[in-house]
Amino acid sequence: MSAIRVSGCIPLKGEISIQGSKNAALPMMAAALLHKGLTVLTNVPRIQDTACMMKILEALGCSCIRRECSVFIDAGEIKKTQVPQEYVRSMRSSIILLGALLGRMGQGNCCYPGGCLIGARPIDLHLMALKKMGAVIREEDGIIEACAGKDGRLKGTEIVFSYPSVGATEQALLAAVLAEGVTIIRGAAMEPEISQLCGFLNNMGAVICGAGTKNLMIQGVRSLRDSAFRVEGDRIVAGTYGAAVMAAGGDVTLKGVRPSALKLPLALFSRSGGKVTVSESSGRLQATGIGCEKEGRIRISSKGPAGPLALKTGPYPEFPTDLQSPFMAFLAAGRGVSRIEERVFEGRFGTAGELEKMGALIRLEGKTAVIYGAGSLKGSAVKAADLRGGAALAVAALAAKGETVIGDCRHIERGYEDICRDLSALGARIQWIGE
Ligand code: UD1
Repeated sequence: MSAIRVSGCIPLKGEISIQGSKNAALPMMAAALLHKGLTVLTNVPRIQDTACMMKILEALGCSCIRRECSVFIDAGEIKKTQVPQEYVRSMRSSIILLGALLGRMGQGNCCYPGGCLIGARPIDLHLMALKKMGAVIREEDGIIEACAGKDGRLKGTEIVFSYPSVGATEQALLAAVLAEGVTIIRGAAMEPEISQLCGFLNNMGAVICGAGTKNLMIQGVRSLRDSAFRVEGDRIVAGTYGAAVMAAGGDVTLKGVRPSALKLPLALFSRSGGKVTVSESSGRLQATGIGCEKEGRIRISSKGPAGPLALKTGPYPEFPTDLQSPFMAFLAAGRGVSRIEERVFEGRFGTAGELEKMGALIRLEGKTAVIYGAGSLKGSAVKAADLRGGAALAVAALAAKGETVIGDCRHIERGYEDICRDLSALGARIQWIGE
């Protein structure tokens, strides 16, 4: 089923646990390829993208088993080094398997992922990093063939990123773990998912310093060991549900996510009139690579229409582009004039048009969206164009009078385990329907 029906204007109330992080789990699953043995990941979200990554690993020769939220990956024997095209096209992030295959097998083959609805998304920085480590790369008819040079092993080197790309940093990390000598990555992305990946790799026996900073140093090792690791709660899912409370009003506690990973979005909820309290009381220790921090509880309450905000997206610790559309949704239902500048992905205002069908007043001026808070929205028939944009429509629908039907919700299932389950547990009237 890929449509969702929502009856809006019901305040949210209650407590829910947040699923594991998609963007942390995917590179860890790819990294399992580096080890000739067993890797166990727990708290892996049950979403389409992690299912897709399991299928790719199986196609390459791994055996993968999922039990609830635990995934067991045995990469003892890799039979192929070609990432199947259909998966790269449906999940761009599978491109990072190239670095893992080069590290483990000395060669890898992948099709060019191409653009997507939120922007062109080039991979020049990924390829630059691999070439810098000695990979020979041939691109022909949209296929990228990479090989690690004469002795089949990449060489440690200094890689300088002109932009802190999340994917390119992951690509370089995966390639460097088994490379010969020391690799230094300058201008690395500092997203919490990168710190988690470093913690996970170190737990496997890699030697990485500097997690959470823009300079990473990796001492290459010959082999890794069997390991188990728990994926942290998803900060973007938590931020989306926070936006839902700002849209619909109410009082909600989100459990299982690290509040410090959401510092700026939480500060903006407060600035917009919400009340936010965080605690780490029931916290579980997380190896973040920069020491251990606790997962905690975030309580968000809101009484009336949200107040206006001015925000700019950017690499961490700036505001996450993945929360831009959910924020646009609650600001459209709020009051006053808000401004959002999108500085990460050029095509990420696609949801504005759908929000306008619900009565939102949004003017796009290049990279900036000016949102004139309408005070309230009205239910309508809309379509999800991308993952976060689709979730944003659900946020807007919670603030809308009457019924909203959101079509093409398969996009939402790529990143949210069950948005209807979670929001109905908080009292929303939201359900999956056939289209
Ligand atoms: C990851 C996240 C995505 C998030 C994004 C930014 C995953 C699976 N996805 O995507 O949810 O929105 O980080 O936080 O973790 N760029 C280049 N050349 C490159 C690579 C990137 O120019 O080789 C540009 C992109 O076009 C974009 C910017 O860098 O404008 C950021 O992209 P990047 O950080 O690489 O995002 P992803 O890793 O694709």
